[in-house]
Amino acid sequence: MKKRKVKVGIVGLGRLGYHHAKNLAFRIPGCELIAVCSVVEEEVKEVQEKWGIPYGYTDYDEMLGNREMEAVFIASPSAFHCEQIEKALKAGFHVFSEKPIGLSPAEAERVEKAVSRYPDQVFMPGFMRRFDRSYSDAKKMMDRGEIGDPVLIRCYGLDPAGQMDSFLKYAKNHDSGGLFLDMAVHDFDLACWFLNAEPEEVWAIGGSYARPEFAGLGDAETGAAMVRFSGNRMGIFVAGRNCAHGYHIETEIIGTKGSLRIGTVPEKNQVMIFNETGVVKQCVDGFLERFEQAYLSEAEEFIRCILEHRRPPVRVQDGIKPTLLGYACKKSFETASLVRMKS
Ligand code: NAI
Repeated sequence: MKKRKVKVGIVGLGRLGYHHAKNLAFRIPGCELIAVCSVVEEEVKEVQEKWGIPYGYTDYDEMLGNREMEAVFIASPSAFHCEQIEKALKAGFHVFSEKPIGLSPAEAERVEKAVSRYPDQVFMPGFMRRFDRSYSDAKKMMDRGEIGDPVLIRCYGLDPAGQMDSFLKYAKNHDSGGLFLDMAVHDFDLACWFLNAEPEEVWAIGGSYARPEFAGLGDAETGAAMVRFSGNRMGIFVAGRNCAHGYHIETEIIGTKGSLRIGTVPEKNQVMIFNETGVVKQCVDGFLERFEQAYLSEAEEFIRCILEHRRPPVRVQDGIKPTLLGYACKKSFETASLVRMKS
C-alpha cells in the first residue's frame, strides 16, 4: 500500500531555508515538498526548475491559498515569523517555524495565543539542537541522574569570523533581534531544557571589538550574559560573531555529582594533521555542517507528528521561554542594568 505523504510548502530559501527545502524534498519519505516561496523570484525559479517543485510564489499570502498543502515550513527572516505563523495557522496548516518565534514578548504572546486557538494543528519551533545526537544523549544521561542535580550551565555560541560580512549584510536588511535573541536563543533553550528551570534574573554585557558596524546597528559583536534560574541554578552564556577558528558551539553542565561537556573541541572530523605548526584538528565551519543531522531529524519529527496525529516534543512554550530570556538580555545589554523577569 502506498504510504501517505504530507504536502509541504516552505517560505524562505536563503542560507537555512534552502537546506530545509532540500531535506523536505528528498530526504524525508513521508513528505512531499510541493510549494516554495521567497520574495526573490530567481530563488523560487531555481529551486522549482532544479527539483521539479510544482508551485512557486513570491507572495506568502498567495502560497497560503494553495489548498493542496497541509503544512508550512517557515524559514524567512525572524521579523516575519510571528505574522507568518499566525496566518498559516489561521489558514488551517500545520506549522514549523525557525527560531526565534518572535522578536518581542508581545510577539511571543501572539504566537502562544494563535497556537492555543488551533489545538488540532501541529506547531513546532525550530530548536534543532534538541535533536542533535550529542545533546539528546546528554539529556538522557542527566535524566538518569548521572551528574546529580544540575547546578550551572555554561554555553558558548560563536559564529565564524569568516561569516561576519554575510551576517552584517543580513542584519542591515532585516531586524535579526540582536546577538542574544538571534544567536544565544539556542543556548537559552538548552539551559531551560537541561536545568528544567525558569529564568529569573539577567545581567548582559557586550560590545563591538573587531567590527564597529555592530555598534552602529545597536547590536553586540561579542556578548556575555549571566542568568539566575529558578532553584538558584546558574547560567553563563557567551555569544559572538568573531570566532577565529570556526563555528564553536560548546555546552558544559556542572551537577552535584559530576559534569558533562558537549563540543569542547568543535572538530570537523577524526583527522589530525601533524606538521611544523603543531598538531592541528580542523573545525566545523558553520551551522549547516555542525547540525546537519539535527536539521533533518527535527524535520522528520515534524512530519511524523502530522502523520501520527501527535504533539511534538518541542512545544510553543519551549519557543517562548528562550525568546523572553533573549529579549531580557537585549534589554539588560541596552540599559546596562540587571533585568528581573516576571515569572
Ligand atoms: P536569509 O536571509 O539567508 O534567507 C531569508 C529568505 O527569506 C530568503 O530566501 C528571502 O528572499 C526570503 N524572504 C525574505 N522576506 C520574505 C518575505 N516577506 N516573504 C517570503 N520570503 C521572504 O536568512 P537565513 O540565514 O536563512 O535565516 C532565516 C531564518 O532562519 C532566520 O529567522 C534565522 O534566525 C533562522 N536561522 C536559524 C538557524 C538555526 O540554527 N536554527 C541558523 C540560521 C538561521
